[in-house]
Amino acid sequence: MKVLIIGAKGMLGQELVEVFKKDSDYKVTAWDFAQIDITDENQVKEKISKLSPNIILNAAAYNAVDACEKDKAEFAKAKMLNGKAPGYLAKVAKKLDAILVQYSTDYVFSGYPDIPEPSGCSGSCGSCSLHENFAPQVGFDENAIAQPIQNYGKSKLMGEDAVEKNGEKYYIIRLSKLFGKPATSKTAKKSFFDVMLEAGKKNKEVKVVDEETSLFTYAPDLAKKTKEIIEAEKPFGIYHVTNEGPCTWYEAVVELYKMAKIKTKVVPVSSDEFPRPAARPYVSTLINTKLNPLRSYKLALREYLKNKK
Ligand SMILES: NC(=O)c1ccc[n+]([C@@H]2O[C@H](COP(=O)([O-])OP(=O)(O)OC[C@H]3O[C@@H](n4cnc5c(N)ncnc54)[C@H](OP(=O)(O)O)[C@@H]3O)[C@@H](O)[C@H]2O)c1
Repeated sequence: MKVLIIGAKGMLGQELVEVFKKDSDYKVTAWDFAQIDITDENQVKEKISKLSPNIILNAAAYNAVDACEKDKAEFAKAKMLNGKAPGYLAKVAKKLDAILVQYSTDYVFSGYPDIPEPSGCSGSCGSCSLHENFAPQVGFDENAIAQPIQNYGKSKLMGEDAVEKNGEKYYIIRLSKLFGKPATSKTAKKSFFDVMLEAGKKNKEVKVVDEETSLFTYAPDLAKKTKEIIEAEKPFGIYHVTNEGPCTWYEAVVELYKMAKIKTKVVPVSSDEFPRPAARPYVSTLINTKLNPLRSYKLALREYLKNKK
């Protein structure tokens, strides 16, 4: 099987390369921006048709959430890379009868999920006896309506729509708060945990937003799960792949410092203390109803810290 990995030097892309290269059933081609610009439809058609892969994994993306909120030219770039390019890939994949995997985000959701009621409860009373021991998962499942509240989410939803419109054999995999080895690409950003490790080493106290509940995704776990989904021939469509354990940024830093034995005081604050150009969803936990769950983010984080040493 020939597999093409695009965005191969990104945080997720590099892990996809590692996972697929380990398996001799696959012949891996790893392309980054230097090998292909996926916003150029002619390049996409010509280069990918010539290679003729059986599987295309698109891990390339525009991820500067705040930059594309405050600057129109940046939003235009986000719409090209996140919104239009996945449609070009879907078209060529369809022509080649190849499988396309497109990655998307929890930021396609509004941040205000429906709160489930126990069966038999007539309304949103929140207090009748049926609510005792009723602890539903709160978040967005694969079929929840996407209503992004910032430009980045809008551009990623455009990409989902373009794949659905132009593609045939595709998986759209949504993830959230990716962490792992820093990418080696030009536009690489450090993941949240690496930024907070540095902050913890330099400061006696750090303030962290105690909001925006969602799930972390460990890049090596997502890469392995992507391979599993393809090999299990899961039905094409939308999947949610994240590690288990919904938490706020603050809760995650408390765990991180405990594991890394950092004594810095962690102070919970509201998002008003750190105003940013782009709105973030208040809750964006991705509910997975289709796959076996991944391990908890705490176990994945422990492994990440161990491997960093
Ligand atoms: N990071 C997160 O927290 C997060 C959260 C939710 C969803 N996601 C999604 O997860 C996926 C992987 O994200 P990531 O954080 O691993 O991305 P990343 O580290 O930013 O990597 C993206 C890669 O795409 C390449 N690229 C940029 N423009 C390109 C173009 N026009 N043509 C071809 N390649 C291009 C970049 O190369 P250069 O740097 O050399 O330009 C880079 O290697 C994306 O779909 C992203 O939206 C990420």
